[in-house]
Amino acid sequence: MIKEIITYPNKLLRTKSKDVEKFDAELHTLLDDMFETMIAKDGVGLAAIQISVPLNILIMCLPDENNVQSHENSLEAINPKITFKEGVITYTEGCLSVPDVHEDIKRSQKIVVEYCDRNGEKHSMEAEDFLAVVWQHEIDHLLGHLFIEKLSVLKRKKFEKEWKKKLKEEKNKK
Ligand code: CO
Repeated sequence: MIKEIITYPNKLLRTKSKDVEKFDAELHTLLDDMFETMIAKDGVGLAAIQISVPLNILIMCLPDENNVQSHENSLEAINPKITFKEGVITYTEGCLSVPDVHEDIKRSQKIVVEYCDRNGEKHSMEAEDFLAVVWQHEIDHLLGHLFIEKLSVLKRKKFEKEWKKKLKEEKNKK
């Protein structure tokens, strides 16, 4: 089922999510709903808190060489933790919870992450470049952080001003 994605400044986005303890059918339904929602909204990653579920769950699906996001290419991560970071990369990021905003953000170029799959099996993965960026962006959501918090004071002020204007315009349309 496609779920509603909450957007900035919804306070729920600042929640620190909790670890999943039960790897059951309910979790599997949630993961399937998250995938459906992410694809419907054209995202490459989604954290559970973005559909108002405060659990340490994220999914990602990078497009293949034909720009197709297939379910086989998707990755589900439960209770993920970054155990190693190295280097710096700047990438233009966006977020389904801050629609239509794209900003250059600095993150680690390479990471190692540990996580569980939907059956509770433990995995470890090394990720670089875009994949590493997506991991870090999504794990930030689980910690209650958004990419716009990484902007310089000046850019953040500009963003807040434009965002307020956009929200006002949307309100007036209704
Ligand atoms: Co995001």
